[in-house]
Amino acid sequence: MVGAVGRHLALAGFMGAGKSTIGARVAELTARPFVDLDALIEKRHVPIAELFARGEAEFRRVEEEILAEVLAGPEAVIALGGGTVLSPLNRERLRVRALTVYVDVDVETAWRRARETDRPLARREEDFRRLYADRQRVYEEAADGVARDADGVLLAALAVRLRGEVDLSGPAVVVVDERVAQLHEPPVEAPVHRVAAGEAAKTLQVVERLWSEVALGRDGTIVAFGGGSTTDVAGFVAATYLRGVRWIAVPTTLTGQVDAAIGGKTGIDTSDGKNLAGAFHFPAQVVVEPEFLATLPHEERRAGMAEVVKTGLLAGRHLWELPDEEMIQACAAYKAGVVLSDPYETEGRRALLNLGHTFAHALEAGSGYRVRHGDAVALGLLAALRLSGLSTDAVEDVLHPEPVAADLDAAWAALGRDKKGKGVFVLLEAPGKPVITTVPDADARRALAALIRQ
Ligand SMILES: NC(=O)c1ccc[n+]([C@@H]2O[C@H](COP(=O)([O-])OP(=O)(O)OC[C@H]3O[C@@H](n4cnc5c(N)ncnc54)[C@H](O)[C@@H]3O)[C@@H](O)[C@H]2O)c1
Repeated sequence: MVGAVGRHLALAGFMGAGKSTIGARVAELTARPFVDLDALIEKRHVPIAELFARGEAEFRRVEEEILAEVLAGPEAVIALGGGTVLSPLNRERLRVRALTVYVDVDVETAWRRARETDRPLARREEDFRRLYADRQRVYEEAADGVARDADGVLLAALAVRLRGEVDLSGPAVVVVDERVAQLHEPPVEAPVHRVAAGEAAKTLQVVERLWSEVALGRDGTIVAFGGGSTTDVAGFVAATYLRGVRWIAVPTTLTGQVDAAIGGKTGIDTSDGKNLAGAFHFPAQVVVEPEFLATLPHEERRAGMAEVVKTGLLAGRHLWELPDEEMIQACAAYKAGVVLSDPYETEGRRALLNLGHTFAHALEAGSGYRVRHGDAVALGLLAALRLSGLSTDAVEDVLHPEPVAADLDAAWAALGRDKKGKGVFVLLEAPGKPVITTVPDADARRALAALIRQ
């Protein structure tokens, strides 16, 4: 089990850390129910201060009972009480049924927030500070990850980490894009298997070669080091080799860091088209190192920025204006939220990430794949915004799309083959409010034609 996929997402931390506020936001972004454990206890019993007055042991007993009940229910985001993880029973139950994230806060902020409430353990500042110091280790030990805000929780929930070490728990191999191998040291010391640069690696021949070369046992880990093409193919090898081994993604392109390495989709191309064979297989960890982007060619960065603009439009935030590190984190967190809301693309929510992509795929096909993917996505976003009746400024200012040479009839035919079905598009009611909707053929064809150079 990876991250919070198929499990509850529990937030531990000291009083005043913001677990309830952050939890409610994360629940909204992952389309999961939100449970505030303290509030639920109060609803079922009496105010916590009153329950506490009967002795802390009685309070903890009630808390254990209610947590067990919540953990037996549908996958939720759960804001735990400040002391929930003190109970070994609770810790064991959480270990089995939840991913627990420690919401860290500095003591000043925690005190400022907590003293305004009637929390029984926030009456005297001195006691509060002592308790804070005592609890840090408990939280660290009980939690699978640490975060300070909603984005941080979403990243931890899919084991996405900015910088940091690659966690190996046994033998490993590295699968690396051959161009990346010339530019950067692999993130771990392990046998290295090179694959062709970029999309050329996503073939069955490469998969077969890796199946026979990697020589790992079931306890092995495949570390994918490269852009989306490398993580797609290495992840697919990990999904299928010995019926599935652990893998870790270390993406080196902007597209990889904000999109391709996150979400568990792995795959290769077939003679019939792109990404037609694949599997869902979530990486045990995604290590994002923005420094790798320093060597990225301009056009590859631009392709990544098209995904950044898409994400910003979906999230309703000008994410493209942020410095790289913040921008990457925010985009990755947004994708993690959507993925957690629909990990295996069965609910339709994951399809929202296709904003602009239906037109993009049509343009790529209509040009005989001469149009670059990033350019096609930029144009696709332009069409989606025009059909939504919204300003196209963000796309024009950041991506400067220009109409491309393509055959309108061939592109139109490809649009009809899109997997969502003819006439169905992801549009925006407003920035931050994506919808899946139908568009009359005449309007869709006109929008497509406007992207093609006459
Ligand atoms: N699995 C998913 O959810 C998902 C999502 C989006 C895209 N994808 C896939 O990702 C692929 C595209 O990936 P991509 O855009 O990351 O590019 P890529 O992996 O195809 O690499 C593009 C080029 O950049 C080079 N490169 C990579 N890192 C570099 C670095 N740090 N410095 C210099 N050069 C570097 C590569 O050698 C290659 O030439 C497509 O196959 C697409 O289908 C998958």
